[in-house]
Amino acid sequence: MKRIVLFASGSGSNVENIVHYFQDNSEVTIAAVFTNKSDAKVLDRCKILKISALHFNRTSFYDTDCLLDILKGMKPDLIVLAGFLWKIPEKLVQSFPNKIVNIHPALLPKYGGKGMYGMNVHNAVKANNELETGITIHFVNENYDEGAIIRQEKTQIAPEDSADDIAKKIHELEYKHFPKVIDQILHG
Ligand code: GRF
Repeated sequence: MKRIVLFASGSGSNVENIVHYFQDNSEVTIAAVFTNKSDAKVLDRCKILKISALHFNRTSFYDTDCLLDILKGMKPDLIVLAGFLWKIPEKLVQSFPNKIVNIHPALLPKYGGKGMYGMNVHNAVKANNELETGITIHFVNENYDEGAIIRQEKTQIAPEDSADDIAKKIHELEYKHFPKVIDQILHG
């Protein structure tokens, strides 16, 4: 049985999509969802989906080994950041080499780095009149959005598309590709 641990900071629609994708798969299980926000909508989704969820604070994440020890105990085959906003501490990256993946809502290296998340990304893409955007699924290293790229998928932007329209297109790409790419990584 392959074990996935998910991290999310907000709505968690990707978490829900990933859970649905694997729900009838007897070889893959979602061990838990971790969040840094006690009122994140992802926690409501976990309740409905009957997935274990754990909220942690900044101290346990950065200043103690508390979370690291819990994670090690879970023996995850893959840690998936699905809309998780905090930087992953070095000790965690080193403890799980090539086992942490992130999804970024743009075509890295464009529109990556600190502060480039959610609507900030889509607003910047719109402001630059880009003709296309997309998603990047990549391994996580010590720097924001800089780990090895696993997969990129693109979508076209029409001149009349608003930043919200772009966000919708990105979510569609994420729902279509992210679970499949996770599946492929898990199975080599
Ligand atoms: C996604 O667009 C993801 O790429 C980004 O944050 C968003 C999370 O959306 N990192 P949701 O919480 O899964 O709905």
